[in-house]
Amino acid sequence: MEIAFFNGKFLPKNEIRISPDDRGFLFADGIYEVVKWYGGSFFDMEAHVTRLKRSLREIRLQWLENETFPDIAVELVRQNGLYEKHAMVYIQVTRGAAPRTHHFPDYPLPPTVYAFVKELPDTGKIMPDAINVLLKEDIRWSRCDIKSVSLLPNVIGNQEARENGCMECIFARNGEITEASHSNVFFVINGVLRTHPESNYILSGITRKNVIRIATESGIMVEEEALHESELENITEAFVTNTTGEVTPIKTINGKTAGDGLPGRITILLREKFLSEIPTNRR
Ligand code: PDD
Repeated sequence: MEIAFFNGKFLPKNEIRISPDDRGFLFADGIYEVVKWYGGSFFDMEAHVTRLKRSLREIRLQWLENETFPDIAVELVRQNGLYEKHAMVYIQVTRGAAPRTHHFPDYPLPPTVYAFVKELPDTGKIMPDAINVLLKEDIRWSRCDIKSVSLLPNVIGNQEARENGCMECIFARNGEITEASHSNVFFVINGVLRTHPESNYILSGITRKNVIRIATESGIMVEEEALHESELENITEAFVTNTTGEVTPIKTINGKTAGDGLPGRITILLREKFLSEIPTNRR
C-alpha cells in the first residue's frame, strides 16, 4: 500500500481527498520541490529546503512547518520500504481551499501540503543513452525562477517532444536558449561550458549549481551566458541536468546531431564526478 503525506499525516494514498476548491486545483496557486534519495541519503537536501522556502516566499505563501520537509521525506521513504532503493520525493504546497476569488482569501487559511515518494531505478554509474531534444520558443511567464506548479507550457512542450521522438524540450527566448521543460541545459563550445545565467527566465537548478561547481573545481572554464540558437552549429557537446537524471547527454537537437552525437569528454567527466559525490550506503 502506497503511503503519502497529507496535511500533517501519513496516510494510504488512496484515502487522501483534496477539496475541489483547492487553489492549487483552481489557479495552480502553489509551489513544489523534488529531491532524490540514493539508498541511504538525499543529495543536497539543504539546497532543496532553501529553494522550497524561497518559492514559498516569492508567492507569499506561509507554510510554517517548512523546516520539517527533510523529516517528512525520510519518513515517506521508510514507510514505503524504499530505504535501500533509489527514489524521488515530491512535495507540493498550495494556498489551501477557499471559495474561488482571484485575490488571496481574506482570512487565514491552512495551506494544503501533499508529498509522495516514487521508486527510481538504480542505474549506478552507467551513462544513460544520449537523448533527442526538441527546440521550441519559450512561451513561459517571466518568473521561471519560482518552482511553481503552473507548468502548462512545460507540459505542452514535453508532450510535443515525445510526439517527435524526443525525451526533452529545450526552450529559446528571443533566440537565446534558456532551459528545458524539466531540466537545465548546458553546451560545450570551444572547450568552454556554457549555460544560461541565473535569472527570472530559468529555474536555479540544484544539479546545475553543483555541475558548475564541479566543472570549476576540475579546471573547466564555465561561462554563465546564454547560448544563441545560431551558435548551436558550433557546439561539441550538450547535456541536460536535473535532480532525478543528474547529467544526461543530448544526441540531437531538432534532428541535428549535437557534436558527434555521443556523450562527450566533459559530459562524461561531470557525470562521473557528480555521482562520486553522492554519499550512499552502497556506492
Ligand atoms: N524539474 N528547470 C526546470 C523547469 C525544472 O522543472 C527542473 C527540475 C530543473 C532542474 O532543477 P534541479 O536540478 O534542481 O532538479 C530546471 C524537476 C525534477 C521536476 O519538475 O520533476
